[in-house]
Amino acid sequence: MQPLIDDLEKIREALRYHAHRYYVLDDPEVSDSEYDELFDRLLAIERANPELITPDSPSQRVGGAPVDALQTVEHRAPMLSLGKCTSIDELDAWLRRCNADLDRDVGSLVCEPKFDGVAVNLLYENGVLSQATTRGDGTFGELITANVKTINAAPLKLMSNDVPAWIEIRGEVYITIDDFEAYNRTAAASGEKLFVSPRNSAAGSLRQKDPTMTAKRPLSLFCYSIGAHSDDYQPQSHLDSINDLRRWGCRVNEFAERCDDGNACADYIKRLGERRDSLPYEIDGVVIKVDDLATQRDLGFYIRQPRWAIAFKYPPVDASTTLLDVDYQVGRTGAVTPVARLEPVRVDRVTVSNATLHNQDEIDRLGIRKGSKVLLRRAGDVIPKIVKVVEAGDGALIAAPNVCPSCGTALTRGEDEAILRCPAQMSCPAQVQNAVIYFCSRECLDIRGMGTQRVEQLLNAGLIKRNSDIFTLKKEPLIELERMGEKSAQSLLDAIENSKETTYPRFINSLGIRNIGEDTSAILADRFPTLEDLITADYETLLEVENIAETIARNVVDFFSIDANREEARRLVELGVHWPAPKAPIDSRLDGQIWVLTGKTSRPRTEVKSLLVARGARVTGSVSKNTTHVFAGENAGSKLEKAQELGIRIVDETEFNELVE
Ligand code: IVH
Repeated sequence: MQPLIDDLEKIREALRYHAHRYYVLDDPEVSDSEYDELFDRLLAIERANPELITPDSPSQRVGGAPVDALQTVEHRAPMLSLGKCTSIDELDAWLRRCNADLDRDVGSLVCEPKFDGVAVNLLYENGVLSQATTRGDGTFGELITANVKTINAAPLKLMSNDVPAWIEIRGEVYITIDDFEAYNRTAAASGEKLFVSPRNSAAGSLRQKDPTMTAKRPLSLFCYSIGAHSDDYQPQSHLDSINDLRRWGCRVNEFAERCDDGNACADYIKRLGERRDSLPYEIDGVVIKVDDLATQRDLGFYIRQPRWAIAFKYPPVDASTTLLDVDYQVGRTGAVTPVARLEPVRVDRVTVSNATLHNQDEIDRLGIRKGSKVLLRRAGDVIPKIVKVVEAGDGALIAAPNVCPSCGTALTRGEDEAILRCPAQMSCPAQVQNAVIYFCSRECLDIRGMGTQRVEQLLNAGLIKRNSDIFTLKKEPLIELERMGEKSAQSLLDAIENSKETTYPRFINSLGIRNIGEDTSAILADRFPTLEDLITADYETLLEVENIAETIARNVVDFFSIDANREEARRLVELGVHWPAPKAPIDSRLDGQIWVLTGKTSRPRTEVKSLLVARGARVTGSVSKNTTHVFAGENAGSKLEKAQELGIRIVDETEFNELVE
């Protein structure tokens, strides 16, 4: 066996070496076919000897099983956010503050690009990638190990034998601008939802529930710092740690540069700004870090931000183009919103042909006409915006419609709403179509192949009239449709069948209740463990839930007060849509108790909350007569006062710790 194992390890080492040359250094030594040949040899040996497969084998990049929902885990050191500045004066002020806090000079700084991607935390134990997470709330991140393993630039095993026993490596996952545009072109052709930016597409790819989907997206990675690590590693400076990362085979950016003072930083910012347009990936600024790690420790943190680093943000990029027309779109909840159609133009590296116009007031304020020359701005992760009219021209003014462009029903406008609405609901074809598209989308039941065009086709053919009809589709009528053969009909039916197995928050989200998205759905799922609990929840009970505001409580009640909505939700379940039963509490010591958290606690709130919930308690947002306990941390304010007034049991941190031990 030993010679075989040696052989296997040699092949793996060779593959790691060549993958590093290709994906990390961008400097391959062998042709693709030579690499593939080597890879096939590895696969052949492993197939014949599956007991020899190790998690760090190059064959193990794709292979994780799909998951229902992403789990969360705690980072070993929190993932912080950065303070921002937008001018050299502000940067100088930050440096002066650092010097004053320290009562000495901070010493040299390091400037590096601020990548516009998604932050990840990679945990290496004994040099092997054992866990990868998103930033999450900074304390807890979502577990995405299988997805990150598919990124070729992320080593499954660190090179060199001086790696620490364990270390968190922090970096940014991104997609190049070209790859993002190519993805959108394909998605547009098949009628799927487009991503608004490279950042947005990297985030979507990374949070896929099925790693084989992530593997198809061209994700890459820059490692830019270290988090917590074992004591056997003692770097002196940030640049040292970056050099170590490079030595260990991680992909680090070529532009990290030592700058001795504020002037040198200003010069770096200017130089990188000039190159920005020629980089293949998006950056939105420069991160300036104090180099010496002991000095970093002396400076410490302020709330969730380090005092030893700051982000300089480049100003948003503008471009001008001609407005061709304004279309009015009817959304799934009836909102009629204007969308500007533009002469395609490149703004900040990305081609733009549509822009949002929030409502008619904005159109009137801007004074746009057909053919106006307008100034466009793309800032961060949002659909570009029209900032102003540069040349009005003499085209027709854009007037708001009086009737729904889809069904002709007279539009209404709420008292203090700027938005026009079509009141026809499910008798308006556009609202039905958008509701179905939403129902099938990634954040809801995620039915592959049910893009805009397919949904439109099924509605037009009368095969479906509402969401639940999707689960009654039969093969024969599908085959009759244009652009649909036996094979694609079957794969659509398979996708529909697979989508029945979902999670409760996704199910709630898919109902399309106004103003309720993924986050609120998760909150509702937590508090109302069964569909019937949710259907029958009254306004007061909903209001007591933490982070449920009045409009949301009202929308939920209004939604379920309509017979057709209740019937539709129940019909989905009858037709087979299901989700895992809620997790049983660890114990039921706190069963029936209703807690409110207030003030500052030494544990993060999410943790306090999960400790309580795991023991059977419920956590709500506001103190009422139903509240049984109030956990009052430091500087507790009005909630504590109210609890005292109502004579509710007040628990401090020490007592809380005893309770949950
Ligand atoms: S250092 C406390 N370096 O910026 C140190 N972050 O606002 C924070 N980011 O979510 C991390 N490029 O994803 C660092 N070269 C860089 C970065 C960078 C982008 C992101 C990071 C984080 C955010 C912080």
